[in-house]
Amino acid sequence: MNFDNITLEKANGIGYVTINRPKKLNALNKATIEELHAAFLALEEDNEVRVVILTGSGEKAFVAGADISEFAHFSPDQGGKLARKGQEMVFDLIENLSKPVIAAINGYALGGGLELAMSCHFRIASTEAKMGLPEVSLGVIPGYGGTQRLPLLIGKGRALELITTAAMISADDAKAYGLVNHVTTPEELIPLAEKIAAKVMRNSPNAVAAAIRAVNDASKTGVNGFDTEIKEFGNCFGTDEFIEGTTAFLEKRKPNF
Ligand code: COA
Repeated sequence: MNFDNITLEKANGIGYVTINRPKKLNALNKATIEELHAAFLALEEDNEVRVVILTGSGEKAFVAGADISEFAHFSPDQGGKLARKGQEMVFDLIENLSKPVIAAINGYALGGGLELAMSCHFRIASTEAKMGLPEVSLGVIPGYGGTQRLPLLIGKGRALELITTAAMISADDAKAYGLVNHVTTPEELIPLAEKIAAKVMRNSPNAVAAAIRAVNDASKTGVNGFDTEIKEFGNCFGTDEFIEGTTAFLEKRKPNF
């Protein structure tokens, strides 16, 4: 697959997606959204890939937001369509991927960039990362899921303070808030993501996918997550991976998934 705005690589069970517009601080333009859509669809289908690491190229930015130059003259209708299309094509796709997507935040994660990181299953950050949702300073609100996912991750009060002040926070503050799980040096960021990915890959891919579905259903309107958990739990008993996992435990060996 050939891309102009991102790179997609694969090694040792990990898919690496890197947003690659460093001169524009990896801002999400229409073409990048389309390429991310294609890349994540391909990763979902690729049985060799069990974990995805998403990051930005260059030293400065993960993603500095949606590309402001593309929407500065939009009408309300065009604005609404931009948000809906982006959410469906990329942000919801990532959140519902059947394999964990780790955001490795290497620099600015602002606006759509932080929203992209929040659509991932979890986040780690380098000490150089800076995060925020500055949309209200531009006269809009977060439109790629930020008003919904940020309160879930850090609580309503903190989310509303961050959104209404348009403030930027450091990696350490983001960790204290629970927005990122770990903070490390820029050099150690991808190795740390790979270390976590290796731990995930020791486990049953089917069970990992089921866990993602159940956890995601905790925050879906009109869906009972406990029912999802019961259904997914039961389904696991019908898989070869369950037989392998339990047999390996009883035989005192490591499972081979
Ligand atoms: N959309 C479009 N272009 C962007 C962008 C965005 N969200 N963020 C950065 N860029 C571009 C700049 O326009 C500039 O392009 P140019 O060199 O052709 O002029 C280039 O990326 C470098 O950015 P610059 O502003 O010069 O870097 P900086 O180090 O001075 O500032 C930021 C970095 C992140 C503080 C600043 O770029 C910024 O505030 N970006 C917008 C953040 C934002 O509001 N995001 C939410 C959008 S909804």
